[in-house]
Amino acid sequence: MSQNLPEPASPQPNSRYISIGNLVNWKQVDQGIIAQNEIAQIKITVVKDGMVRVQSSRNESFDSNPYSVISGTETVDLSIEEIDQKIHIKSTLIHLQFDLSNGVCSFFDSKGNLLNKDDSLGISWIGTEVTCYKEIQPNEKFIGLGEKTGNLNRFGSAYVNWNTDYFAYGIADDPLYMSIPFYIGTHTKGSYGIYFDNSHKTVFNFGASTDRFVYFNAEDGDMDYYFIHAPSVAEIISSYTSLTGRMKMPPKWALGFQQCRYSYYPDKEVFALANTFRDKDIPADVIYLDIHHMSHYKVFTFDGKKFPDPKSMIARLKELGFRVVVIMDPGIKKEPGYLPYEEGKSEDLFVKYPDGKDYIAQVWPGWCAFPDFTKEKTRTWWGEKMEFYAQTGVDGYWADMNEPASWGQFTPNLIEFDVDGNPASHRKARNVYGMQMARAAQEGALLQNPEKRPFVLTRSGFAGVQRFAAAWTGDNQSTEHHMLAGVRLINSLGLSGISFSGFDVGGFAGEASKSLFARWMSIGAFTPLYRAHSMINSKDAEPWAFGEEVEEISRNYLKLRYKLLPTIYSKMQESTQNGLPVSSSLAISFAQDERIYASAFQNQYLFCDTFLVAPVESTKAITKVYLPESSWYYLFTDEFHSGKNTIYQDCPLAYLPVYVKGGSIFTCQSDLPHTGAPHDGILQVHVYAGKENGSFNHYEDDGESWDFEKGQFHKRMLSYDSMQETLTMDTPTGEYPGDFSEMKIYFHGFANETVELAGRQEKLKFENFSFLGRLSEFDPLPDHETRFFEIKALPYLSIKYPDKKLIIKGLKSIN
Ligand code: GLC
Repeated sequence: MSQNLPEPASPQPNSRYISIGNLVNWKQVDQGIIAQNEIAQIKITVVKDGMVRVQSSRNESFDSNPYSVISGTETVDLSIEEIDQKIHIKSTLIHLQFDLSNGVCSFFDSKGNLLNKDDSLGISWIGTEVTCYKEIQPNEKFIGLGEKTGNLNRFGSAYVNWNTDYFAYGIADDPLYMSIPFYIGTHTKGSYGIYFDNSHKTVFNFGASTDRFVYFNAEDGDMDYYFIHAPSVAEIISSYTSLTGRMKMPPKWALGFQQCRYSYYPDKEVFALANTFRDKDIPADVIYLDIHHMSHYKVFTFDGKKFPDPKSMIARLKELGFRVVVIMDPGIKKEPGYLPYEEGKSEDLFVKYPDGKDYIAQVWPGWCAFPDFTKEKTRTWWGEKMEFYAQTGVDGYWADMNEPASWGQFTPNLIEFDVDGNPASHRKARNVYGMQMARAAQEGALLQNPEKRPFVLTRSGFAGVQRFAAAWTGDNQSTEHHMLAGVRLINSLGLSGISFSGFDVGGFAGEASKSLFARWMSIGAFTPLYRAHSMINSKDAEPWAFGEEVEEISRNYLKLRYKLLPTIYSKMQESTQNGLPVSSSLAISFAQDERIYASAFQNQYLFCDTFLVAPVESTKAITKVYLPESSWYYLFTDEFHSGKNTIYQDCPLAYLPVYVKGGSIFTCQSDLPHTGAPHDGILQVHVYAGKENGSFNHYEDDGESWDFEKGQFHKRMLSYDSMQETLTMDTPTGEYPGDFSEMKIYFHGFANETVELAGRQEKLKFENFSFLGRLSEFDPLPDHETRFFEIKALPYLSIKYPDKKLIIKGLKSIN
């Protein structure tokens, strides 16, 4: 009887490895080749100089992720020829050798140095799972991969990309909320980046449980990766962000301090919070409304009892200089009569089972339907709904729970998403869902307030999410280890295209000790997104909630943050142009320096390219710091250190170890209660002597509108030339008049008593200068004296803010 059964249409894949095998047929296509056999096809194209795309599929057409890559192919000079069964594709930066006998790709730089090569197992499948195996180069380090716990050098570890709501994750747990399948390999012969453009669940194994290879795979879809090479790690990141996009210029207020709690309510408590910041002279710009602002946690509602008049409340907060950010969770309560639910149903906006029934799962409001953000119509609808918040004066949006999260943490894979006209299951859509919600929020903010730059904060995301939102690292814990792990997460996000990110200062789950909170506040001042947050039912966790000393330390670092805003704002603007992070792992500038990967030093990073921050537990009084090549000045005293040097640093709670790179220039303003408040009109320029030249592109605009796109900005290059002994301030560009009328130039590490200005010798003045204020004496005992660091007799020059090019000559470095 069995003879009568029909043959299966095609052989079923079994669970054994099958490789791409021997490829005989190949042909040239636009900027590349396609080769094919009965197992698979492979397409290799040079996307632009320094970037090659490798696609391989067992299907007739290639599957793709429509959401991450935004740049097209650029025409480049290249040659393609076959020699001895190998195809050589040569462009200026990458020479690729493709072996027709087994599909193995080898990537060389233009000098013939091997950068990266497939293992002989090459590209292969096990069922629908597709993998690319790569050889490990001698002494190779692997960095990046976005929001991943673990070490800076990921060698020896493996990671899963599957966006996951992970309350109170541990510092070695994986996966977390956001997936960015992009990593950088670096070894003595060079560096390269690999972006695997597949949104299915992927695994990146950097040599865990094997000595043979590293690999990346996806449980379905195609092998589709971009190989990026450039001479430096920084250029590789720039290239990756030219592919997946860069952040848009945020409003200036979003760089101020942001205070969150789960949750501040009712309105009286919000006013008390706002007034306390102002009464205590503690700078801050943002107050968040977490889920208790809603009626029964229903998005697009206010709880009428807790917040009877949100519009007036927000107007009053604005008078105090605060902006309000509201949380938006994707889950729409399944409740007849609740308009968003009714509309979502009638307009077919929700995620569905294959039989057309809505997918319903539980989140904060109870049973919920989920808007399909991979559908344009849903994104537009969501943006229109945001009018509800916009008309009350809300300025920013916080997209949370957008993995999407649901109780039970196990979304069934059969549910379907539109994927903008190419329907796909949860397996393909999950990882891009959060990013598309962030996109809907950004588009909605723009729809509601087209003239203002949006601020959206997202928990979940995928490669390219930087175009839509800032990111934070979710539900961390109030521990010393978490504080340091958070720094690595931010640095790793920065290596992966996300420049605007932060962690919950103080820790979300649990309660910070006094010292931990103080130290976390000081580190937070040196991160792009500076936001404190704490969990429901925990003790108060505002800067004044930990006693007088912590309050003073917090105030000090908050004031320092506001003083540094001209630098931070300028660097954020630069990042919109080059995609480089503002918190940069030392691996970006010092990739070949072994020491930076050591566990004692891997948390160190450069903030704004200028400040080497060495985060340290709050319980330590002294720490080891590694200062890489260059020269360095301890921020608080100007103590000089040569580079390639390990030092022991006192780190009393009030002083986070921070060093300024020799040759640097940065700008400061007087401290402010919030970014909208006026400063004293004096732009401080700090220049540090060094053997290296340095430059800084100072940037200003109105802080909020898009007018800078029409030329309303003020930008001026400041450069220090150590050989010429000059500080040059170029003529400003742009039509924005600039906010400063005077300039005070501080000379750090110089022996000068005079400088030459417009042919004349100008006498310098001297003052004792401190970046942080003096703390009160909290302990009457003499041996508990509170320490105070300052820079003694720092030379400076005060001038009218120059509207033309200006050169200061004759700068004599002390060291
Ligand atoms: C999630 C968020 C957290 C928020 C809470 C309540 O746990 O990660 O930041 O406070 O939900 O909305």
